[in-house]
Amino acid sequence: MKHQETATVTVNRPLGGSYYRLDLAAPAIASAAQPGQFVHLRLPLFQHRVLRRPFSICDTDPASGRLTVVYKTVGEGTEHLARLPAGGTADLIGPLGVGFSAPPTGRLPILVAGGYGCAATYLLAKHAPRPCLCLFGARTVGDLLLLDEFRALGCEVRLATEDGLAGHRGLVTDLLVDALAGAADGPPPMVYACGPNPMLRAVSRLVLARGIDAEISLDHAMCCGVGACFACVVKRRAANDDGWEYVRTCVDGPVFRASDTVWDT
Ligand code: FES
Repeated sequence: MKHQETATVTVNRPLGGSYYRLDLAAPAIASAAQPGQFVHLRLPLFQHRVLRRPFSICDTDPASGRLTVVYKTVGEGTEHLARLPAGGTADLIGPLGVGFSAPPTGRLPILVAGGYGCAATYLLAKHAPRPCLCLFGARTVGDLLLLDEFRALGCEVRLATEDGLAGHRGLVTDLLVDALAGAADGPPPMVYACGPNPMLRAVSRLVLARGIDAEISLDHAMCCGVGACFACVVKRRAANDDGWEYVRTCVDGPVFRASDTVWDT
């Protein structure tokens, strides 16, 4: 069930580079949120107009009502958001969308993320059974966030960076190939992925070629966030004459099964 709340900022601090952590007192949304869902936040610059942006939910603490998002300053709106002080307020709608399914016990959860997409898998990692393997890749280590927090959860974290300054020099999909090979003798792992669409497509190909499915969180521009504008349609496999249908990322996703996703070439 989604809620609209005027949330009070409790923390809004830089994490390094262009990344920020925003903690909000949003008890109704924090209590209802599931891993992989998002909130739609009205940017403070545009209070006189309804301009909202989607932000993945990074973490929640239902007991205190805390909801955390991690964002990157990429333009005028998020730069104003970065200046929102503790005690300020933000209008939120959420939780929105279909998130990740709960990892079943007995199967190794493998979380694959590109860039600061790793922050959007934190709540999933928090609720996943142990052991839990996190494979994070980025251009450079400065684009990988919350690594100590993932390790503090008891997750095994493996890194890939294109410049080789942390972990494996190369792509996160290289790590996934190794992880899938290492898990080949056991029950099939549960693979969850979040990051840029080319990475998600590569992850999908890798797992499907091995007879495994994955849940992938598609990265798509959104306007309304609630299914009204159709700005976020993607193709999903369907049992009709075309073999596919249009669905809306904001209400039917953002998380989809890799086996259901149709990639336009
Ligand atoms: Fe408007 Fe999805 S963003 S329908």
